[in-house]
Amino acid sequence: MEVIICPVAEQVGQVAAAKVAKIAAEVGPGVVLGVATGSSPLSTYEGLARLVAEGRLDLSQASAFALDEYVGLADGHPESYREVIRRTVTEPLGLDPSRVHVPDGSLHGLASAGERFEKAIAAAGGVDVQIVGIGANGHVGFNEPTSSLASRTRVKTLTERTRQDNARFFATPEEVPDHCVTQGLGTVMAARHVVLVAMGDAKADAIAQVVEGPVTAMCPGSVLQMHQFATVIIDEAAAHNLKLADYYKQAYESAPAWQKLDLA
Ligand code: GLP
Repeated sequence: MEVIICPVAEQVGQVAAAKVAKIAAEVGPGVVLGVATGSSPLSTYEGLARLVAEGRLDLSQASAFALDEYVGLADGHPESYREVIRRTVTEPLGLDPSRVHVPDGSLHGLASAGERFEKAIAAAGGVDVQIVGIGANGHVGFNEPTSSLASRTRVKTLTERTRQDNARFFATPEEVPDHCVTQGLGTVMAARHVVLVAMGDAKADAIAQVVEGPVTAMCPGSVLQMHQFATVIIDEAAAHNLKLADYYKQAYESAPAWQKLDLA
């Protein structure tokens, strides 16, 4: 696992965008992105949008797959992840909306939503780089603690803690759906690269568990220890509980030139 600790939160998005752009350049125009919602990746999307605006990155032929979606929100609900992804990813990054896929959280499509989403990812050739955040309880996407580490896209029940954490996006806490459709941990692990971004001390426990804790379904993000190319990009606050923080900093600073990111 590669761990990059940024001195300030503002740099996390810039470094993550540089990492994603580097992978996109290696893959070519048809790169397949995995995109997450939540506040953590927003600065990464802003960084990518800046690279696109400057003509240094072209994502017009890219595809994207969202991590998850709430179940049962009305079509066009501003907090449905379909809408959030449209506002924060598709439009600013100049993606073709017909190549941006979000799991189907409609009640009538639920039984087959997971299987259809998995088939769509496979048809696109798999995800090249999956951007993820981390829940305070270690969840990735909406894979709550005790999710199977081999799970694929399916319906899950949200924990009370996640519903409370996400209540800030809704008019009342009761409006937060109970269920979601989320890529599984096995789906995330099948992406060729995973980039996890997190900022702030509210994520420090989860990050310590993900990076240095045991691999356990009690902290779903810890499965990333088993990924060949997982990069964790965090600020000092989120790194606060890491035992080997100095080692990660030293490794990043002394990386060979070919591994360095273009942060211009
Ligand atoms: C939601 C999303 C996750 C995200 C998490 C943390 O539960 N489904 O993908 O990682 O929130 O969000 P934030 O980055 O806002 O803390």
